[in-house]
Amino acid sequence: MNIDLEEALRASMDLIYGVHFFHGFKDYASTYFVTSECIKDYLKAHEFLKNRALTILSGGDQVFNLITSGVYEIDAFDSNKLTYFVYHLRKAMINIFPFQDFKKANLIFTSASDNFSNHLDILEKVKPHLPEEVHEYFRKMLEFSDGNPMINFESLYYGANNISLSRNNYLVNEDAYKKLQKSINDANVNITFADALSFSEELSSTYDIILLSNIADYFSYAKPEFGLKDFKEFITSYMKILNPDGILINYLYKINDQNPIRNLPITKEDLGSDNIYPVTTPIFRNAGEGYYLERKPKIKR
Ligand SMILES: C[S@@+](CC[C@H](N)C(=O)[O-])C[C@H]1O[C@@H](n2cnc3c(N)ncnc32)[C@H](O)[C@@H]1O
Repeated sequence: MNIDLEEALRASMDLIYGVHFFHGFKDYASTYFVTSECIKDYLKAHEFLKNRALTILSGGDQVFNLITSGVYEIDAFDSNKLTYFVYHLRKAMINIFPFQDFKKANLIFTSASDNFSNHLDILEKVKPHLPEEVHEYFRKMLEFSDGNPMINFESLYYGANNISLSRNNYLVNEDAYKKLQKSINDANVNITFADALSFSEELSSTYDIILLSNIADYFSYAKPEFGLKDFKEFITSYMKILNPDGILINYLYKINDQNPIRNLPITKEDLGSDNIYPVTTPIFRNAGEGYYLERKPKIKR
């Protein structure tokens, strides 16, 4: 994995100028600092072996939840290279901050501001646990932003609020958080930058659990014609690298009985309603929120 610090800084500085519009996910894009998925519910709902996981990286919550549930070998990937910086910042925060301070630090770091002394304070506290280039990236971004009325630093991030924080198994209570603090540095997390549409073909490992997040919701930005057949091919390509009893979880937003799944011309029935599980009270009006589960048939013994 190659980190190009100068390129990451240039792209991030572009992202925080002026009004922010969603342009789809790219090499450098706004990051979900805290998850938008109810990870704690779907991990709790299934028994699975815990030797090895494949997950989207995003802001790191999928990784932190997997570690809390006992998985220590994790391959994490994302097409957005800025996720690398967010993951390491939040991992360092977990190492340094007690429970309540960690939650506060997430909210501070993602909020609108024209004074960055609180952000800088957090950065300096977690510095001992940061890779050098990650510290350098945030130091330069914060210096660039401080006192500059033209920038919206918060455009770098989506979705840190008390609801999103509460969707994590390691934040349900202080004991869970302490459990993650004890194990976080023992986990082996390999990060790769890759496109989910082709990545499965490059992998030689197999997995007990694969978390595909809700990436498929966004394929239509790059491929407007993305449909049911493409979705099934996408899922099948990851089923091939699941262990015999492994499970694959694909998150879906905005599913209900009448409407197609958000951004996908697919209905619950197309996917087999039995494979779709509701997980939370809808966050979108008139919508459901859930996940699609695929499980390879068990081997005959
Ligand atoms: C789909 S987003 C939504 C946030 C997510 N539900 C969460 O809880 O973190 C998750 C991540 O998927 C990544 N992503 C989107 N399309 C991708 C693709 N084609 N390949 C790899 N990663 C992708 C984005 O960069 C983002 O970091």
